[in-house]
Amino acid sequence: MMKLDSTQAFLREDIESYQKEVSRIHKMIHEKSGEGNDRLGWVDWAETYDKEEFDRMIRIAEKLKDKTDCVVVCGIGGSYLGARAAIEMIQGLYPDNDKEVVFVGNTFSSTYISQVLNHIKDKNVVLNVISKSGTTTETALAFRLLKQFMERKYGKEECRERILATTDKAKGTLKALADKEGYETFVIPDDIGGRYSVMTPVGLLPMALMGIDINEVMNGFKAAYIDLKTDDLRQNDAYRYAVARRILQNQGYNVEMFVTYEPQLQCLGEWFKQLMGESEGKHGKGVLPDSATFSTDLHSLGQFIQQGNKILFETLLKVEKPTLDAIVPSDPENTDTMNYLAGKKLDWINKMAMKGTLAAHVETGGVPNLVIDMPDMSAFSFGYQCYWFFKATAMTCYMLDINPFDQPGVEVYKKNMFRLLGKPE
Ligand code: PA5
Repeated sequence: MMKLDSTQAFLREDIESYQKEVSRIHKMIHEKSGEGNDRLGWVDWAETYDKEEFDRMIRIAEKLKDKTDCVVVCGIGGSYLGARAAIEMIQGLYPDNDKEVVFVGNTFSSTYISQVLNHIKDKNVVLNVISKSGTTTETALAFRLLKQFMERKYGKEECRERILATTDKAKGTLKALADKEGYETFVIPDDIGGRYSVMTPVGLLPMALMGIDINEVMNGFKAAYIDLKTDDLRQNDAYRYAVARRILQNQGYNVEMFVTYEPQLQCLGEWFKQLMGESEGKHGKGVLPDSATFSTDLHSLGQFIQQGNKILFETLLKVEKPTLDAIVPSDPENTDTMNYLAGKKLDWINKMAMKGTLAAHVETGGVPNLVIDMPDMSAFSFGYQCYWFFKATAMTCYMLDINPFDQPGVEVYKKNMFRLLGKPE
């Protein structure tokens, strides 16, 4: 399903020479014996997930289907990026769908939230608020505004059907509020941290509400779980990728640019940045994850990559099959001189841009490129790549002796902000 090609990465060490270390860490991950072991619930989640809750999500999405033309998802970080990455990857940015999705709770921007409230005022809204703690300020504030909007529009009774809360199973302010108001609730498991939670109701419920077949997503996740059970570096490409990152950092590359050629994968890049950045960026260590969508960003970042400071390597996610394709029409006047491409498929042109760029960056620019092949942007592939990157992230962090599952540094800005906001102790 997903294959790594490291032949254009100028690796100075053999990936397989890391086998012993990888086997040790693999054991640690599966036996849950490493640092952060109370956050390894995602490892066997393909088997252990709550089937009753999974079916309940499908039933509720089905029930709300005809009452909804706008799904508002309220959350931030791990309670936001996965759902957005999934919906955009699987459905595209302008899907032929009778529903739109709007994301809130991910910013303090007054303009953004005001415009959202105005945008949804005449729509049939279902609201999914997602927060493990319930106290995340961006999310809690947006939810306060949205809750008021919903209650004015539908009344408290109907809000019981239209507001869904995804949160801790027992504790936290959101759980208390949801119970008090009588909202349907879904659980964020204790042993799965935010950025590893997209295959729980955190990601699956928004997907289901948007009409995505979450069985297919879970099937992809399960397939990767089976494929990546081995510690053998000749067979486990997620681990090969993890090792390649470490080798490249040892060679002095401290920035990884996650590259795709599909705008519908832009948010997957954001999700990837959180997964890698928040997991690895500790104790003065880690590779800075960045992302770019080509060819768009070749017209902005391309110059730097080609000829600038050699601080980065690229990880190219190469998708075999586009969701849709189109053919370049012929024009008898040919004023734009594009007739040489008439009759060609747009995806073929995109692939030629990719091929030409890869050669330019690798051969002329000397920029190492790791290439990951993915067959398509289906629900199955989304689920598959989630597990693939989870495993790669855990491996690459443990290789640095870093706990992949905490994020102590995030608290620093919050402390300052709360002081400035006058938050009571
Ligand atoms: O990865 C994480 O843990 C964070 O990004 C959290 O998901 C994010 O801060 C949101 O937290 P919460 O779900 O408690 O609102």
